Amino acid sequence: MTAKELARPVTPALARLTQPSRSSVSSAGHVVSTTRSSLWISSPVVTDESLGRAPATSLPSTAPPNPTTRRRTQAATSGPAPPFEQTQPEEPVPDTVVVVVTHISELATPALLVDLAVFEANAATMTAARPGLTLRPHIKAFKSTAVARRLASAGHLAFCCATVREMEGMAAAGLGEDLLLANEVLDATRLGALVDHGARVTVAVDSPQTIAAAASGGVGEVLIDVNVGLPRCGCHPDDAGALAEAARSAGLVVRGVMGYEGHLMTNPNRAERAQQVAASMAHLTAAHAMVGGDVVSGGGTGTFDVNDAVTEIQAGSYLFMDTHYAGVGLPFDEALSVLATVISVDSTGRWAVADAGLKALAMDHGNPAIAEGDVAFCSDEHTTLTGGSWRVGDRVRLRPAHVDPTIAKHTELVVVAGDDVVDRWPIDLRHW
Ligand SMILES: Cc1ncc(COP(=O)(O)O)c(C=O)c1O
Repeated sequence: MTAKELARPVTPALARLTQPSRSSVSSAGHVVSTTRSSLWISSPVVTDESLGRAPATSLPSTAPPNPTTRRRTQAATSGPAPPFEQTQPEEPVPDTVVVVVTHISELATPALLVDLAVFEANAATMTAARPGLTLRPHIKAFKSTAVARRLASAGHLAFCCATVREMEGMAAAGLGEDLLLANEVLDATRLGALVDHGARVTVAVDSPQTIAAAASGGVGEVLIDVNVGLPRCGCHPDDAGALAEAARSAGLVVRGVMGYEGHLMTNPNRAERAQQVAASMAHLTAAHAMVGGDVVSGGGTGTFDVNDAVTEIQAGSYLFMDTHYAGVGLPFDEALSVLATVISVDSTGRWAVADAGLKALAMDHGNPAIAEGDVAFCSDEHTTLTGGSWRVGDRVRLRPAHVDPTIAKHTELVVVAGDDVVDRWPIDLRHW
């Protein structure tokens, strides 16, 4: 899909009218903001103003349409673009906020940006290396059905999730052909409900308790989760056979095994990394020999091309990357950044402060990075920058150190081509 195609409205509730730039308030109190050469009419919302608060400046692209807006949308799409008139609506409607954003300078900050060209190159590189079902993209990295849809259209129809919420959202979006919850749960009833609604659901189990939960919750299929060295979930490799037997006795279909070598993802020495992965995967292969089944699932962004033991790679970070992964020497580039505004500059010029802090950027892998200058530290809503020259109002792009938890702090990915905004992908699978 071209950037131009992506620039079309993402929901039917949006219509594009040709219109000179302007910003105005209609006689009905509708706020109409347009910029540059295009006008995007989006869904109306009750404004903050009508609630007695400061006016809002943006609204989600997926808000449900209002009848008045829908009429305008139809008019706009069924013929030449009519002039936009500030007329009194025929029926009372809530105040409408219409926001046009075609350039990053118009975004409220902090905003999470994804560089479309880099994202697409990352996706293509992985698809070439791991086509179709040899990749089970991990939803946890990006929590967005819009992103998942792009992967599905590239042939990746089986997905990996970390939370029940991700599983539910994927199934509801029609992406439930083969969903793996690569995580243990002790209450599988919400997963069972997805099975009842036609989704194919597999869940990881590593104990008699998780097997019992899968069986009583109505999930028919499991993978035996094997510990391959990361001190997290997974049974001892020697116990995998007995657990598979217990699962089959409980009426479950055992599809195979999974084992996540998360402790080996970021060794920058590729040969060493390959050796370490081979040693780790020997445990999974041994467990698989006891368990049986078609599926051997594991791996991630850092091991996608050195893990030959699995039938499918579970990776998600590769699409966006972060400064932590960037040092590994993988064939993926950083597509993600947090756009922030410089809101204060020290009078002696020693530092500047941007309006995105640790509530907009995950810090567990360290400070974000900036192209020019240094990040001194982050606090809740601020990042203090040094070693550069900034003025109040400047826009800066901060590169996150850890992709997954950074994305989980935001509600949308603003898709950009250079400095132009070309799409917005809701991050709709947050929470649990
Ligand atoms: C079970 C599991 N599989 C695979 C991955 C790999 O993801 P990434 O693409 O971030 O390396 C993760 C990441 O945490 C994970 O938890």
